Amino acid sequence: MKIIDGKKISNLIKEEIKKEVDSILARGGKAPHLAAVIVGEDGASLTYVGSKVRSCKQVGFNSTLIKLPENISENLLIDEIYKLNNDKLIDGFIVQLPLPNHIDEQKILMAIDPNKDVDGFHPTNFGKMALNMKTFIPATPFGIMELLKRYNIETSGKNTVVIGRSHIVGRPISILMNSKGIAGDSTVTVVHSRTKNLEHYTKNADIIVSALGIPEFVKENMVKDGVVIIDVGITRVKDNSKEKGYVIKGDVDFDSVGKKASYITPVPGGVGPMTIAMLLKNTLLSKTYNK
Ligand code: GUN
Repeated sequence: MKIIDGKKISNLIKEEIKKEVDSILARGGKAPHLAAVIVGEDGASLTYVGSKVRSCKQVGFNSTLIKLPENISENLLIDEIYKLNNDKLIDGFIVQLPLPNHIDEQKILMAIDPNKDVDGFHPTNFGKMALNMKTFIPATPFGIMELLKRYNIETSGKNTVVIGRSHIVGRPISILMNSKGIAGDSTVTVVHSRTKNLEHYTKNADIIVSALGIPEFVKENMVKDGVVIIDVGITRVKDNSKEKGYVIKGDVDFDSVGKKASYITPVPGGVGPMTIAMLLKNTLLSKTYNK
């Protein structure tokens, strides 16, 4: 079993981005500027956004964090988005999800200028992705594609099973791995909470991408020997023996499934760090797309 080291690859990508930034600055240009909007005080979201902003510093980007109260109205949030759309200093921005229940997520995503939508969640960008056109690819699936490429994992003609059909991971990765090209050309099946006999699909999978959010859902008896495992799950599980009061668990029972797998991403240190690296990559690309 080989570990797919997302931490190492994400650091390499960040070094590549830093070099690009240095060369932009040497040519008298401006460093890319990423803004992140967060609504409310959800602990996990604050942690993710905090590390997105910290990573900007690492690669020489400028960053802005906009923290808004949990009870902000939909209209005021949209006003903030319009300000970012019109701010010439901002190359790209994200609105951290999930949003509070009183806010219509679709309305918010539609308000973002597609040219600054470095999350790739706007329907224009999602549509372009599905049509294999140049666009912002959502960071987590973009990161998975990059891991498959950099580890030379054969995907062409393979049976890939994606567990979960979220707009952020399951749906886009199923489209990308099924598209023509490197890390693509796979025969993709998407399984989800209503799938009957889910094990039937996972047992026949050459590659499993799990983006479900149920800790250790994928067990040894659900996979075949030699399977490639991409574990996107990051769930906080209560553990009072730990200082933080929780441990982070993936969707896959790493110890038992790892024994059968040819490649596996650990949690933490697999897909997670790639998400941030690819968000930075999209922000850098935004500068070239929007020239
Ligand atoms: N919540 C979980 N993942 C993401 C992400 O990639 N982008 C945003 N904006 N919110 C998220």
